[in-house]
Amino acid sequence: MALISSKEMFAKALNDDYAIGAFNVNNMEIVQGIVDAAAAENAPLILQVSAGARKYARPAYLIKLVEAAIEDTGADICLHLDHGADFEICKACVDNGFTSVMIDGSQYPFEENVALTKRVVEYAHDHGVVVEAELGKLAGVEDDVSVDERSAKFTDPEEAAEFVRLTGVDSLAIAIGTSHGAYKFKGEPYLDIERLKVIHGLIPNTPLVLHGASSVLKEFVDMCNEYGGSVPGAQGVPEEMIKEAVKHGVCKVNIDTDLRLAMTAEIRKFFIENPSEFDPRKYLGPGRDAITRMVRHKIKDVLNCSNRK
Ligand code: G3H
Ligand code: 13P
Ligand code: ZN
Repeated sequence: MALISSKEMFAKALNDDYAIGAFNVNNMEIVQGIVDAAAAENAPLILQVSAGARKYARPAYLIKLVEAAIEDTGADICLHLDHGADFEICKACVDNGFTSVMIDGSQYPFEENVALTKRVVEYAHDHGVVVEAELGKLAGVEDDVSVDERSAKFTDPEEAAEFVRLTGVDSLAIAIGTSHGAYKFKGEPYLDIERLKVIHGLIPNTPLVLHGASSVLKEFVDMCNEYGGSVPGAQGVPEEMIKEAVKHGVCKVNIDTDLRLAMTAEIRKFFIENPSEFDPRKYLGPGRDAITRMVRHKIKDVLNCSNRK
């Protein structure tokens, strides 16, 4: 049992129309909650670490936590850098034992994104590590932005094919309407599935990645609001839309917000119902259990990757 690459995971997922959940980790309870869920479902798993997570938990702790999870459960796990901003952070993660890194050059012009991605691909591949890159911009909910303006930021299919050819990248994050966080849509949720189909048709062997794929589950939003929180109007990507995307080349589905909401909802409930408790294990435990329940649901009912190990 070991830290493994996503290469084989993606090849199988592409072939059989399912996706791997890539869940963001920031502390021990989050790692345990997710890994227990994947182990119970016998599912392949990607744990991902953002720059913010590295800053919060410190790199050495996160790596050791993931190694401990492997030892504890006997799971194989892909450890991935989420949204690497430059060559240096990607190199640091490759050198520290990550099995996958993302270089996010999506804010740069095409040629610059290509050059940066190529540099990371060369270094990572020399060390047996796979690379995800991003093309197109994930739009957030912004005032005064029309549908046309929003979709102008979506991934251009021809550019995507050219980008993969020029960089040799292993997987590609695309923009088709998702965004990070708990406020993804103001009106009706919309993903450009037709665009996704064209991209997948042009690069059928490239695993596609959907960032901003949390569904902002009503159960947890309601619970947060009921127990003293304030997340009014939160809205995610309906799970039916994620399922549709998975049928057209999306092999990696990134989820962080749903973890945050599940854990926070349960802890809020505990605090309101048990005002005199102050043992962190008493509330972090239910928070961890909520993550396990939520991740099992994603793996089984949305990503279709139970028993795919
Ligand atoms: O892509 C964003 C992830 O949710 C990570 O968020 O940068 O706050 O750790 P973070
Ligand atoms: P969410 O905010 O929708 O969970 O997206 C997380 C993500 O894309 C991490 O890279
Ligand atoms: Zn992301």
